[in-house]
Amino acid sequence: MTTSKLEWDKKYSVGVQQIDNQHKKMFDTINRLIELLTSKPTQSDVDSIIKALVEYKQFHFKTEEDYFEKFNYEHKEEHKAKHREFNVKLETLVSLYKEDTISLAFNLVNFLEDWLIDHLMVEDQKYVACFKEHGLK
Ligand SMILES: [Fe+2]
Ligand SMILES: [Fe+2]
Repeated sequence: MTTSKLEWDKKYSVGVQQIDNQHKKMFDTINRLIELLTSKPTQSDVDSIIKALVEYKQFHFKTEEDYFEKFNYEHKEEHKAKHREFNVKLETLVSLYKEDTISLAFNLVNFLEDWLIDHLMVEDQKYVACFKEHGLK
């Protein structure tokens, strides 16, 4: 396993504590998966982390999307489309490797690291001004 762990940096911050904490938790879960992959995991170990990741991602997207509605965020449709795109990619990976959870996990880590960092730095940064205007901190 050559993938390095994700390290939180303040450049990833959206300046809203609740959202930063959720993003950090996603980093942690991905790191747990990376760690697991270096230690000859069983399929069921890997399955349970993947399941946790998928559930947490749903929860996180919902948090953001609920704020988009509440604040009538101007780019909400584009942002929600990015979340849906992510869900489709994830489902594709899961079905592609459904016979082999370990390979799935390796592919997943690569995909998640790229996607998450990119999404944090680009899409999530765009709502910062709107969220702050509405009093989130
Ligand atoms: Fe997002
Ligand atoms: Fe996010």
